[in-house]
Amino acid sequence: MLRIGVMVSGGGTNLQSIMDNIDSGAITGAEIAVVISNNPGAYALERARNHGIEAVCISPKSFSDREAFNETLLEKVNEYHLDLIVLAGFLVRIPPKMIEKYRNRIINIHPSLIPSFCGVGCYGLKVHEAALKRGVKVTGATVHFVDEGMDSGPIILQKAVEVKPGDTPEILQRRVMEEAEWKILPKAIQMIADGEI
Ligand code: GAR
Repeated sequence: MLRIGVMVSGGGTNLQSIMDNIDSGAITGAEIAVVISNNPGAYALERARNHGIEAVCISPKSFSDREAFNETLLEKVNEYHLDLIVLAGFLVRIPPKMIEKYRNRIINIHPSLIPSFCGVGCYGLKVHEAALKRGVKVTGATVHFVDEGMDSGPIILQKAVEVKPGDTPEILQRRVMEEAEWKILPKAIQMIADGEI
């Protein structure tokens, strides 16, 4: 059984899609051991607890410096003996020591077709604002392994989504979630659980 830790910062719709796919049997051979948030107000924490999954918050604001936060985060992750860490809207930079220790065992979902609209400062709604500003007709989502760079690790899956006339960033964000993110993130987890990657 693949032990997964899901790291979140916000609403947790991607977390929900993973839990739903496990419940429905679309993901087999994997379980969520813990959900970790940096944000105490993240609705994702509530989603996890409602599902009977352990949910913990480690906020950088509770630490005097970044190094202390990073160490505690890594210690917490280590406690759960995880096989896979899934960044599902986790908007904090992963500590280098964690990347080193969990190399090829951390995956991230990003709401664009990397290498477009990614990198430092390009996350969440900002991604869709940038896509609309540039006038692209196709966008999408990417699941990739996490390395030391920002959105630069090896790509696992991508799915394209049409941009439609009249789209706002919010409308486009929702379509990218529904048509791409909630499909390719569970699929990547299943592929890893099956040893296909
Ligand atoms: C998702 O759209 C995810 O792709 C994005 O944050 C949102 C989280 O939504 N992640 C990034 O931008 C990472 N660079 P959720 O909390 O509802 O899953």
